[in-house]
Amino acid sequence: MTKAYDIAVIPGDGTGPEVIREGIKVLKTVAEMCDFQITFTHYPWGGEHYLASGEVLPEGALDLLSRADAIYLGAIGHPDVKAGILEKGILLHIRFHLDQYVNLRPVQLYEGVATPVKDKGPADIDFVVVRENTEGLYAGAGGCLKRGTPDEVAVQESINTRKGVERCVRFAFEYCRRRNREKKLTLCGKTNVLTYAFDLWERAFYEVAREYPDIQVDYAHVDAICMWMVKNPEWFDVIVTDNMFGDIITDLAAMIQGGMGIAAGGNINPDGVSMFEPIGGSAPKYTGKNMINPIAAISAGQLMLETLGEQKAAGLIERAIQKVLKDDIADVGAGRMGHTTEEVGDLVSASIRRTKAD
Ligand code: IPM
Ligand code: MN
Repeated sequence: MTKAYDIAVIPGDGTGPEVIREGIKVLKTVAEMCDFQITFTHYPWGGEHYLASGEVLPEGALDLLSRADAIYLGAIGHPDVKAGILEKGILLHIRFHLDQYVNLRPVQLYEGVATPVKDKGPADIDFVVVRENTEGLYAGAGGCLKRGTPDEVAVQESINTRKGVERCVRFAFEYCRRRNREKKLTLCGKTNVLTYAFDLWERAFYEVAREYPDIQVDYAHVDAICMWMVKNPEWFDVIVTDNMFGDIITDLAAMIQGGMGIAAGGNINPDGVSMFEPIGGSAPKYTGKNMINPIAAISAGQLMLETLGEQKAAGLIERAIQKVLKDDIADVGAGRMGHTTEEVGDLVSASIRRTKAD
């Protein structure tokens, strides 16, 4: 029997719908070539929907999403909606409630893509960040007192549970083993200052490490990681870290791999429903212009297929991305590609069809 996947699609705001359209085009191409079925159910949630209805996510949204095989998300964020409403109400809400406890961010510099890091090439910039995705400073613990007065107090606490940390660390060890490169896992923390939170992280990390004697372990403070990611990115294979540090270092990582037009991520629940997204945001100034690079969204589709176990189809997408970036795209930046958003989707699809025919 042919396999069939139900994908929930949230194109979202800004350029989200344009890039997701190209991602779907490519996913349909590989599904056809690799003999599986894929159906897409679109949901309209995002800034426009909120402005029109006052509702961020409707009742039952999580139920609908939890019945899908995976979620494919474009971008969330609207210039007319106060920062935080959509991010917390849609993106973080889904991450937390579907228990997508890992944010997986492959960082790879493809051939033909420029990096701002001098003298480094594709062999040097090739690592993966495993970011904890449901706890830390993002948990929403804290509050404020006497807001707007001179005596105002604001507290925002980082929540780190043994269970939450350990499952993330374990995922990172497993991932590192499966990736089978340097077999090196680096814990990124701040044990010299955050002596409660990263004490827990450190103990969990080294205890789990005993079960993985084949993996070389390493530790670096988050500030040092920022330095080395620029100076010696080749030192990294897999990095595991908490939610806030992971958020920050993955934007730095996106820049050294060529920018937001390239960077894709997965919000993973290994036992549930995962969500895949280009990490570039809604880019309002490019909306509707057919100028933005859809490669990040296409890569997010590749990551989705890898997670669903469709390795062959994911491999076809990856090779096509490599080829198109090397041979057809002048520059990865919006408006500088030498092609429209739609043409890049067409080029990747055509390349997949050609590979298969070879
Ligand atoms: C990301 C984003 C989100 C985050 C925002 C939009 C809430 O920056 O996925 O990295 O901080 O996690
Ligand atoms: Mn971020």
